[in-house]
Amino acid sequence: MQPRTLKNRQSIFILLCFCLSYYLFLKKNNYSSALLLLLVSFIAENFYKNQVRATPESKSSDYTSWKKTIAHEDLPLALVDLEAFDSNLKKLTHMIKDSGKTIRLATKSLRIPALIHRALQSGLPFKGLMCYSIREADFLFSQGFNDFLIAYPSLQNADIDILGNLLLKDAKVALVIDDLQQIKIIAKSMEKYSKPLPLIIEFDTSIHWGQLHLGVRRSPIRSLISLKQLLLDSKHYPSIKVVGVMAYEAIVAGLTDKNPFKKLQNPLAFLIRRCAMQHIAKIRSEIPKIFSELGLTLEIFNGGGTGSFNLISNEKALTEVTFGSGLLCPHIFDYYSNISLKPAAYFALEATRSSDPYYVTCLGGGYIASGAADQDRLPKPVMPEGLKLLSAEGAGEVQTPLQLTSKNMIPLGSPIFFRHAKAGELAEHFNEVLLVNDDKSTYRVKTYRGLHQAFL
Ligand SMILES: Cc1ncc(COP(=O)(O)O)c(C=O)c1O
Repeated sequence: MQPRTLKNRQSIFILLCFCLSYYLFLKKNNYSSALLLLLVSFIAENFYKNQVRATPESKSSDYTSWKKTIAHEDLPLALVDLEAFDSNLKKLTHMIKDSGKTIRLATKSLRIPALIHRALQSGLPFKGLMCYSIREADFLFSQGFNDFLIAYPSLQNADIDILGNLLLKDAKVALVIDDLQQIKIIAKSMEKYSKPLPLIIEFDTSIHWGQLHLGVRRSPIRSLISLKQLLLDSKHYPSIKVVGVMAYEAIVAGLTDKNPFKKLQNPLAFLIRRCAMQHIAKIRSEIPKIFSELGLTLEIFNGGGTGSFNLISNEKALTEVTFGSGLLCPHIFDYYSNISLKPAAYFALEATRSSDPYYVTCLGGGYIASGAADQDRLPKPVMPEGLKLLSAEGAGEVQTPLQLTSKNMIPLGSPIFFRHAKAGELAEHFNEVLLVNDDKSTYRVKTYRGLHQAFL
């Protein structure tokens, strides 16, 4: 059979499967519908994997202007467009306008104190930081920041000591946990301190349909009964105090539904996000009642992330919401149907060699994003337009070859601009970042790495 005929037949088969699963969805047979979609998406994704092409997204005028801005800078270079950063800040905060909620900034998605400061000083309703490590919170406290929610548990005695000492210095800090075992360990380490350690219970928002688990693996607390039990158990430990809940809708915020690398999974992702959001909003609305029933105060009820931010703004139960990465808008956010933010972070590499006509190779560039390793975790060349990574080499440890999809030549020595797939991780590769004002004047600020800080 001709490869083209085979391709057409497979496409028709995939389409029919999609129609069938949509029919099952309409008939409220969610489980079979999702299972069929999952299966067909997997087949389709592998079938279509090599058919994705680079999409030109920048204008040549942008390239000329950015090239001029960094003309006197050494490469490689990381840079942030402050006009886009501020615009994203306003756009995201506008979504929760008049909701009475405060914002907790996710520091892992910036890792640059000057930018954290810029957001907090914007006059928008920020209240504190969501940190990714206890030592990070300690460092930020030493830099003048306060009010930390550490969103990922740590049980080491040395870490809990840091928290105990922060409390003694009147810092506002709370640690996320989700298990009685953790409470026991932490409570023991905290016994020598006069103030109880505020804890936040993470409520799991993933979906369980029979054996099917959709979502991330974070917390085992996924029912109101298990939350209630943990709250009751926690009362036996005077050196800790549960003050809130975090129920981050990771299944929605982390799932792309307009992803050019997963074209046929997108409808399924859209469906899952829609079902998940309804389920999460419902269960989150029940959580404050559990606290009232037990006579406890729910001081903090945190949810939200850039990927789902516009979908949670009406939820009354949440007292505060989190975002971070949307401010820099890495290219992963191009793959969400509900997000339209401005790219604000780039890195520039020098085109140093050209092995063949229509190929250039840049020095450096292997800044791969964490998460399930896939093509959407690679950096994306964006300026000049018409460049793409090679599937055989990707972004390399010391060199990144690119193919020119247009006939434009790139003179050796030119900068090539890329976007990272995620927000904060780029800062781990650079000591400094160039901040670019509206008028294209620039100044440099240090990243965590430039301040000799590495936390995880
Ligand atoms: C607990 C929690 N909340 C919120 C976020 C979302 O952060 P961002 O807006 O930077 O994507 C994350 C990201 O992983 C998270 O782990």
